[in-house]
Amino acid sequence: MSDKPWDRIWKGAGLVTCEGEGLGLIEQGLIAVRDNEIVWVGAEVDAPRDKIAATPQIVSLNGGWVFPGLIDCHTHLVFGGNRAREFEMRLEGATYEEIARAGGGILSTVKATRAASEEELFAASLPRARDLLREGVTTLEIKSGYGLDLQSEIKMLKVARAIGAELGLTIKTSCLAAHALPPEYAGRAGDYIDLICSQILPRLAEEGLADAVDGFCEGIAFSPDEIARVFETAKDLGLPVKLHADQLSDLDGAALAASFDGLSADHLEYTNPKGVEAMARAGTVAVLLPGAFYTLKETRRPPIETFRKEGVSMALASDCNPGSSPISSLRLILNMGCTLFGLTPTEALRGVTVNAAKALGESTRKGRLAVGMDADFCHYKIGAPADLCYWMSGARPDKVVMGGGEITVL
Ligand code: NIG
Ligand code: FE
Repeated sequence: MSDKPWDRIWKGAGLVTCEGEGLGLIEQGLIAVRDNEIVWVGAEVDAPRDKIAATPQIVSLNGGWVFPGLIDCHTHLVFGGNRAREFEMRLEGATYEEIARAGGGILSTVKATRAASEEELFAASLPRARDLLREGVTTLEIKSGYGLDLQSEIKMLKVARAIGAELGLTIKTSCLAAHALPPEYAGRAGDYIDLICSQILPRLAEEGLADAVDGFCEGIAFSPDEIARVFETAKDLGLPVKLHADQLSDLDGAALAASFDGLSADHLEYTNPKGVEAMARAGTVAVLLPGAFYTLKETRRPPIETFRKEGVSMALASDCNPGSSPISSLRLILNMGCTLFGLTPTEALRGVTVNAAKALGESTRKGRLAVGMDADFCHYKIGAPADLCYWMSGARPDKVVMGGGEITVL
């Protein structure tokens, strides 16, 4: 152990470390931080007395549980406008696909997002990120995909980065230019894929605006061949990929993502057993999105049992977006993951911590309370870790720590 003194200690609460297979619980734990890193974690009784005595700042938590900072690994929270009218249409019987084919859906948000200035987009999107932060989310993925032209995609991703800077959150961005065919390319999907590969991705990579490349592989979006072209370009640019796969139909999307060593395949309601096996081999995380399943009143659940059997890591995310998942609460998603998909609370909690970190390629820094990890964590005054899944919304964390510093959650 280094001789350097610790900066700060948090003690007097249980720790949900997410180490090992389960939650890695430690009752009466202690976390020590230096700079922005965890330098000691364990049971308080085992902590070195001399180090504790020399630490200038000790926070006593008085019960409750400390979790790794929660991670929402799939969101579309930067967008303009809203789609309340489509909500009403769906209540009257229209389906998501019918609305999309009639020019609504994603394309209506594209129109509003293109029309918004960077400042307007920032002002509209910040509250959604703040909702998540208030629940203890410290790492957040944000996708583009409502711009669908070079300048609008850049605008979205700049806003995503600006949200991170404003709130002190870690933001991972994904370019989702292959989300829908923009109206000016109607009937010319190949040309739009050319635009993505020859201009949008290279420019975003050059400007460091995209940490990963995503796509929507679906009958109402892009074919596996079209997505494969986008992924080839991502590979050439050294960017990892992930995919909206098998949400409404089985197009072998999970296997496609796995064949490019995808960080994750997401949705997966229609994924077949071969796709699950391919994901297991590639270490591709299954990102489950019960908010979209709920909103679209889907009845077919992702193959959870097969994921378990094949040892595929499962993550849970909000999919926060104006159409299929108008939800900015990861707490609600924890409950939905258990109630709608049959995850255990342990699986659900690992799904917004250690496995969500893996889905973002951040396993070495995020998602666990362990030495060497970023000092991101949140403290909830709850009786048991499963309370976060059981109770829908309600109590907020009383402390959120990011990079070793406590932040005021407004
Ligand atoms: O993840 N599946 C495609 N994309 C989003 C929906 C976006 C929208 O409807 O605006 C999703 O569910
Ligand atoms: Fe999505």
